[in-house]
Amino acid sequence: MGKHIHLLSFLIHSPINHTMLSWAHKDDRRLEMMGDIHQWQDYARTLERGLFDGVFFADTPGVFDRYKDRMDEALKYGLCWPTHDPVVLLSALAAATERLGLAATISTGPHHPYHIVRQLSTLDYLSHGRIGWNIVTGHLRGEHRAFGLPEMEHDQRYDRAEEYMQVCYKLWDSVPPEAILADKERGEFADPAKITQVQHHGEYFDCETVSPAWPSEQGRPVLFQAGTSPRGLKFAVRHADVIFAIQPELASMKKFMTDYKAIAKEHGGGREPGIALGIQAIIGGTEEQAHGLAKELEDRIPLEAGLARLSGTLGNDFSEFDPDKPIEELATTGSQGLMKAMTRGFEGPVTIRQVATRYGMAIGKPQLIGTPEQVADQIEHVWRETGCHGFNLTPNINPGSMEDFVDQVVPILQKKDIYRTEYSGKTFRENLLEEAA
Ligand SMILES: Cc1cc2nc3c(=O)[nH]c(=O)nc-3n(C[C@H](O)[C@H](O)[C@H](O)COP(=O)(O)O)c2cc1C
Repeated sequence: MGKHIHLLSFLIHSPINHTMLSWAHKDDRRLEMMGDIHQWQDYARTLERGLFDGVFFADTPGVFDRYKDRMDEALKYGLCWPTHDPVVLLSALAAATERLGLAATISTGPHHPYHIVRQLSTLDYLSHGRIGWNIVTGHLRGEHRAFGLPEMEHDQRYDRAEEYMQVCYKLWDSVPPEAILADKERGEFADPAKITQVQHHGEYFDCETVSPAWPSEQGRPVLFQAGTSPRGLKFAVRHADVIFAIQPELASMKKFMTDYKAIAKEHGGGREPGIALGIQAIIGGTEEQAHGLAKELEDRIPLEAGLARLSGTLGNDFSEFDPDKPIEELATTGSQGLMKAMTRGFEGPVTIRQVATRYGMAIGKPQLIGTPEQVADQIEHVWRETGCHGFNLTPNINPGSMEDFVDQVVPILQKKDIYRTEYSGKTFRENLLEEAA
């Protein structure tokens, strides 16, 4: 555990982040933001004012289509659809900020690693080393269908992703900074003797070239990973700078941290990346107001919207079960980590309806509800109890809930001396991993 809590803002370039129908709330401006780069830039500036390590965009480039084996509920409720590309948005946010890290999720499914390295490293160079990549292997069936790809078996996706990363590292390492001369007098841009040609011929990928990008100030993007199945964590401890996790309660967070540490010890080769736990803060002027807002948001969630999201991520059609029966762990080619968290992470039995509602609020992340002081106290408590690196904070009303957090909770965390008062580094990696530097 470091001296300070690290914070990321967990967003999606779609009508909602996680709270179903938040876009329809009278105070929510997300629908306007969708078509207004300036409002997204204001959002990013708010996060930078709050000294967040970064903004993090999740992404599922397809439609949630498991529930009743159709897309209707996702389309009807704007459930992460439209699914706009987050990487495109990052370039606009890079122009509006100077220190904020900018991370997006990109699945290893549809695109060749060269394409991803080119895209992210171009942005990393342009932003002076502020880009991050959440590496996912594509758990959503709708993604595979959109790209016309076969749905690969769970562990095989990770095997393929291992090779994917080998190609990425080879590309990133192929051009060291000292290879760039940019010597105007001699008319020499680079020293070919210092550049290594990638010669990769593997089971899944072929690549013969050099990195397409000028090396950035942090060398390569910050790497995140969010798969928390045993196979996913083995992958994560080998590659990630920081790992994302969602657990619904403090007890399950603590158990997860213990299990994770054992996996890191066995498979990390000396590495134990920090964990950023997902949370949702719901702030009110009084405790009653905060609970009132939480209830209002929860009551608006259509059961079928929660079930559609749950079905998509957990890779099973929950319309086939009685919603008032306890949820049970099912085999899945979707997210095994979230399947386990949503079926075993709660204390006592929970029904499918209850889990779907929790999922509809914030994909199972716990709500920290109260006045700014109470929320800050809860954040500190979870941080100290779990020893996590920090939090991935999902808003509810956009952008108001994040503005309230920055203006009202951040100063309390700073007063407690558990949150930074200025950025210590220039690059995303320097700030996110400042204790390790
Ligand atoms: C905080 C968090 C964010 C995630 N974001 C995405 C995402 O943007 N896109 C995606 O396809 N999966 C996302 N996932 C799902 C995981 O990457 C998913 O669990 C994985 O694809 C399957 O891995 P697992 O079976 O090892 O858990 C996220 C998971 C967590 C915990």
